Amino acid sequence: MLQVHQLTKRFGDHVALDAVSFDLKAGETLAILGPSGSGKSTLLRCIQRLIAPDSGEIWFCGQPVSQLRGEELRAYRRRVGFVFQHPHLIEHMTVLENVALGPVMAGLSTNVALRLAAAALERVQLSDKARAYPASLSGGERQRAAIARTLALEPQLILWDEPTSALDPILVDEVLAIMAELASRRDRAMIVVTHEIPFALAVADRMALMERGKIVVQGEPEEVLVGSDAPLSRKFRRLYEVRYAGLYHHIGTRRGRKEAARSRSQQRLAGAALLRRLPAGWRWKGTISG
Ligand SMILES: Nc1ncnc2c1ncn2[C@@H]1O[C@H](COP(=O)(O)OP(=O)(O)OP(=O)(O)O)[C@@H](O)[C@H]1O
Ligand SMILES: [Mg+2]
Repeated sequence: MLQVHQLTKRFGDHVALDAVSFDLKAGETLAILGPSGSGKSTLLRCIQRLIAPDSGEIWFCGQPVSQLRGEELRAYRRRVGFVFQHPHLIEHMTVLENVALGPVMAGLSTNVALRLAAAALERVQLSDKARAYPASLSGGERQRAAIARTLALEPQLILWDEPTSALDPILVDEVLAIMAELASRRDRAMIVVTHEIPFALAVADRMALMERGKIVVQGEPEEVLVGSDAPLSRKFRRLYEVRYAGLYHHIGTRRGRKEAARSRSQQRLAGAALLRRLPAGWRWKGTISG
């Protein structure tokens, strides 16, 4: 569904992305981890065409994204949703209106937009706050409203840029649970930039570690974190093991999930159930310097 080939982006002399390549299939979730400044946000911004790369190409469903113009580009941007670190809700509009804004801006009628918004709010379990104003929501609820705003456009690919890292720790899980549930449905692809390693292990099909603009290792999450001898893999492994002596527990949980997720209905439950099984104190809180 998505092919990124030799993507390179410079800001002046600084190479923010250096020949980044990877593929993503429909329904797959890719987790991207890496130190601050390694180019994670720049990669997502290039994929959504918020910025243009200097060289390389992105294909979405077989189409080269660099060649999209006008209405085609707008249509592409609707098919690729973005969830940012901060929810950026409009304070004088209700939650429902905030969520309906996307479809309205995309040219749909108000009635259709409101129907899509209501369905999206139900998916993030926020229907009871539809008439509330953002100021009355918790941080986690605000971020769930932002997720609903993205879902309302029914994107085929969702890009998540550290959607939980600005949240109060006790609110992180409710957002991760929604993300895990979305990933387990496998009806859209997701690229998740996150520092939540246990979450990435539990939910991602594939993982990529980035450093200085390059993907230094990518593959199955177990392979990347446990099986790889790349220095960045070792660094993540060491930091993780020092903080939470439970990495292998999570690997085991991930395998358990794979077995459990055979049927579609089981798949739906797997992500959320998994998160409930993670032990207390599992959250990744480390900052990693390059
Ligand atoms: N608009 C810009 N102008 C100049 N430099 C930029 C711009 N955007 C990003 N950079 C630089 O490119 C590099 C990669 O930035 P990016 O935001 O992609 O990193 P990141 O991996 O998302 O980091 P973080 O984990 O802190 O969000 C950094 O050195 C950053 O300073
Ligand atoms: Mg970033």
